[in-house]
Amino acid sequence: MIDRIKTLLQEVEELKVANADELEALRIKYLSKKGEISRLMNDFRNVASEHKKEVGQHLNLLKEKAQQKINELRDNFSGEDVSSDDLDLTRTPYPITLGTRHPLSIVKKEICDIFGRLGFNIAEGPEIEDDWHVFSSLNFAEDHPARDMQDTFFISHDPTVILRTHTSSVQTRVMEKQQPPIRIICPGRVYRNEAISYRAHCFFHQVEALYVDKNVSFADLKQVLLFFAKEMFGTDTRIRLRPSYFPFTEPSAEMDISCNLCGGKGCAFCKHTGWVEILGCGMVHPNVLDNCGIDSKIYSGYALGMGIERITNLKYRVNDLRLFSENDIRFLREFESAN
Ligand code: DAH
Repeated sequence: MIDRIKTLLQEVEELKVANADELEALRIKYLSKKGEISRLMNDFRNVASEHKKEVGQHLNLLKEKAQQKINELRDNFSGEDVSSDDLDLTRTPYPITLGTRHPLSIVKKEICDIFGRLGFNIAEGPEIEDDWHVFSSLNFAEDHPARDMQDTFFISHDPTVILRTHTSSVQTRVMEKQQPPIRIICPGRVYRNEAISYRAHCFFHQVEALYVDKNVSFADLKQVLLFFAKEMFGTDTRIRLRPSYFPFTEPSAEMDISCNLCGGKGCAFCKHTGWVEILGCGMVHPNVLDNCGIDSKIYSGYALGMGIERITNLKYRVNDLRLFSENDIRFLREFESAN
């Protein structure tokens, strides 16, 4: 059998072809299912086990060389085959499909642009954070449930090293380094240990805004909120504030906008209330200012935070959060015109 393999090997190495038909005939002769090499492979089953290793090696070599040779011959004359007469230089090029920006990037930019027009500068911070910046500095009590394992991802044996659960951590980072006036907008990714479903994900995106200066009042906050809502969702948009609780703001509120689908009349989307919730906000708690080295007797400030996915859902009706991270091109293409 080895002799037969060697003869074939030599034959293969000397192969020559003049055209595509001949090449195809050779491919069939050697490499097809009923070709020479397949036949040898069948015979290989009957080789005595003590010879299997040696014969197997020769056989593999032959298979490899034959494939190589056929590819080589094909490469050689596919070049020759194209005579200059076949080239059509006037043909339109292959259509080029441009990529689109991700819907979350589109909305993030829009939010940042609106606040940018009010004089807010972008500030960013790390996603791998520590307990101080995410919780303690922001006035979270030692036993606050948000610190629980259920919400926070710990990434090392050191329980103070965590993935940030909100972008409020960037407030602290900026206030520690800078004295007022501070006027920042902080977009970024945040992580929470949640089961993934259409309405929850283990990571999502937030934008945080912070303004600290002398004499900043709740009225200033309200005006900025109304401006933002009208810019983002249209001039007919109304807002309402409901009292709420966050450790880092006092007083705290949640803001609803009049449902931008039914205009406030009531529909399935707003659960027939006419309102949809979009963000949390409040006056920065004096403890937070003091924790960051800003004198709360001289300065005051407001903060607000919103989920980019939530705003995107309201603007574009994307009601399954998972779509944002699956990279399905059919979904992403829907945003071509919004770019
Ligand atoms: N950090 C809050 C959250 O993740 C959102 C938030 C609420 C931010 C109120 C704020 C604020 O700055 O004032 O749910």
